[in-house]
Amino acid sequence: MRRSIGSKPAHAETPWRDKHLLGLEDLSRGEIESILDRAEHHANRSAQSREKSQALKGRIVFNLFFESSTRTRTSFSLAAKRLSADTQDFSPSGSSLSKGESFIDTARNLEAMGADILVVRHPTPGTPKLLAEHVASAVVNAGDGAHEHPTQALLDLLTIRRAKKTIEGLTVGLLGDIAHSRVARSNIWGLTKLGAKVILCGPPTLVPRGWERLGCEVAHHLDDVLPRCDVVNVLRIQFERQHAGLFPSIGEYSHFYMMTQERVKRARPDFLLLAPGPINRGVELTPEVADGRHSAILDQVSNGLAVRMAVLEMLTSHTGPARDGGE
Ligand code: NCD
Repeated sequence: MRRSIGSKPAHAETPWRDKHLLGLEDLSRGEIESILDRAEHHANRSAQSREKSQALKGRIVFNLFFESSTRTRTSFSLAAKRLSADTQDFSPSGSSLSKGESFIDTARNLEAMGADILVVRHPTPGTPKLLAEHVASAVVNAGDGAHEHPTQALLDLLTIRRAKKTIEGLTVGLLGDIAHSRVARSNIWGLTKLGAKVILCGPPTLVPRGWERLGCEVAHHLDDVLPRCDVVNVLRIQFERQHAGLFPSIGEYSHFYMMTQERVKRARPDFLLLAPGPINRGVELTPEVADGRHSAILDQVSNGLAVRMAVLEMLTSHTGPARDGGE
């Protein structure tokens, strides 16, 4: 089986050592920091110039999204274009998957068209890993069920680091539907490796039991933990992944867990508010808070482009020379 970027050889820590990005669970602190450093470079460069990099000239990046997406799919496409790659969206509906063709055969056909990188979002956890074991292209996990969403966590980390200068020693609250959130899992791995304290806060039905063993504190009363948080990452209730009513009503959820102006007044004066999006105004946070001075929600989107450029570059350093002689 091919090693993923997350597997741990004994040698030096470098983010460029392997060809897939499947999750943050097995990445070292050094690898994560190197990706963030490269992303920081792209973020600074994009702020000064729209000139394209030639780093992925001659490369082909396919987006295979089996779940809805606005930010992730668009920013992977744009990141690839900013690096001069060709990009193609593969749409499962209307494809031969409906005629019984397997997922792996579909991916192999895309490879036969020259795909260098397959960016995959799928409702089933482990799908990107399965794909990585069966194709020669590099595979990026763009969200697999409730398992991992590594580039989202990387862009959250970059946003925190840019705003707070460091991640080490910060207290970060992950708020809401922890149980069904791949963003929560990837954030936990990334934040704890970089030395932050993580507090998981939500109703008992939405915070898995025993996650203290991941190095997190578990809390159910937002008003008690909010004053300790340097950062609050508001996670959406993942109704599409819930198979039973896990809280009495949206009104009750909002009463106890929605970020409101009243709560903001009791938070740290310099706390940073994150949300991966999509945001549901009036459910997880009020419009005033979403658009307020603590919110870095749109910075996250900008930083997402920089992170995805860094990741695509990293992966192509392992896929051999481009066919047309580009880098
Ligand atoms: C997240 C996702 O799809 O996992 N969104 C995103 O990628 N920007 C979070 C969510 O859907 O709530």
